[in-house]
Amino acid sequence: MELWSRVLLWELVLLQRPWGPATSDSSVVSESAVTGEAGSQAVLRCQSPRMVWTQDRLHDRQRVVHWDLGGRPGPARRLVDMYSAGEVRVYEPRDRGRLVLSPSAFQDGNFSLLIRAVEDSDAGLYTCNLHHHYCHLYESLAVRLEVTDHPRAARAHWDNEKEVLTAARGTAALLTCVNRAAVWTERHLEEAQQVVHWDRQPPGVPHDRADRLLDLYASGERRAYAPPFLRDRVAVGADAFARGDFSLRIDPLEPADEGTYSCHLHHHYCGLHERRVFHLRVAEPAALPSRPRTPPGPSPDPTLARGRSVVNVIVPEGRAHFFQQLGYVLATLLLFILLLITVVLAARQRRQGGEAGYPGGRARTRAPEPLTPSPSAGDDHADQKSAKAKGKDLNLAEFAVATGDQSSYKSENLQLDYKNNILKERVELAHSSLPAKNIDLDKEFRKEYCK
Ligand SMILES: *[C@@H]1O[C@H](CO)[C@@H](O)[C@H](O)[C@H]1NC(C)=O
Repeated sequence: MELWSRVLLWELVLLQRPWGPATSDSSVVSESAVTGEAGSQAVLRCQSPRMVWTQDRLHDRQRVVHWDLGGRPGPARRLVDMYSAGEVRVYEPRDRGRLVLSPSAFQDGNFSLLIRAVEDSDAGLYTCNLHHHYCHLYESLAVRLEVTDHPRAARAHWDNEKEVLTAARGTAALLTCVNRAAVWTERHLEEAQQVVHWDRQPPGVPHDRADRLLDLYASGERRAYAPPFLRDRVAVGADAFARGDFSLRIDPLEPADEGTYSCHLHHHYCGLHERRVFHLRVAEPAALPSRPRTPPGPSPDPTLARGRSVVNVIVPEGRAHFFQQLGYVLATLLLFILLLITVVLAARQRRQGGEAGYPGGRARTRAPEPLTPSPSAGDDHADQKSAKAKGKDLNLAEFAVATGDQSSYKSENLQLDYKNNILKERVELAHSSLPAKNIDLDKEFRKEYCK
């Protein structure tokens, strides 16, 4: 038992490591190669509307929750909405006092809608919509409401996409919508949370040893660290935070400017951490004779189109999320393979232990037809018994190995160094039954898989 849990633990530890701390780092949202002519101007585009500095002059009205009712003929209808610093607004007169939103929703993250007395006309598809205008975030949650005559039929279940609530006519129904993420519940934190950095790696220098060129703060503070040869030629627009445009201008470009430039956008309050990477090459003017002398690189920021629509803003994070999910799936597969190998090895050891009758533990090489009368009459019986017992818990692949061709399996010469230790372990293991161990592993596996 102990061996198994130890093996499992190590496998889990080994598998977890690569995916552990990566989340706090900014994600690279674009990487591009830019070639500029020496003597001309280069522009490295770094833009994001999500970084636009819009101080809240409207008394914290940037967040709004609204409940809509759809899923029936005609367009969806706005039922009720509430700003983070405003009152609840109920749209239909007949719904006043009947539909209830908690006034403290933006403090406790509970945006649930209470319908005091359900009517037949209330049935439909409800959506709880959260908009964060300041951070350009949007989240939506659907709940289907069905109305029944029979109080006993009232229930709630999950249809794999949303909650389906069945409420008896005349009773109260609570449509649950809870989101306690800090961005929806905290106020007054958004100021001074925006920072932009520009880094430069001279050719051949890795990212972690990049030189800082510029720090820009939303408060207006700026710090320049560029090496003297570059300092007077790099600039970011003065209204960068007002326009969300942090593009770096290098004018005029010199051959020594070559290298990798990164633009880091951080909006801590909104959870935005993005990095755009530019590989800048400087060509001799003569090398590009036929090209018109247009400033190099002013192709639009490849991520800008994404930033313009609310849906797409989420894409970079979604991509990171996708890779994380992929990582988990691969990790799970790897874990499964390791488990399979462990189980198969253990099954073999157990069987072999039954064959190798003396504690010295050197595996005996058996001829296909044994010359000595073997004690295997009992052993075979034990094998069959254990195979029968294991059959319940081992999956097909394992079972196939466990009951594989006995003669070829017995003639294998297993002179491995670890054999003695494993035999020792086997004696300990023999006291607890194998199937129970398999169940444990299975559970652990499922736990890991379902995470
Ligand atoms: C949310 O608020 C409602 C009342 O508006 C309450 O009945 C419900 O229990 C709350 N849910 C949570 C998860 O706090």
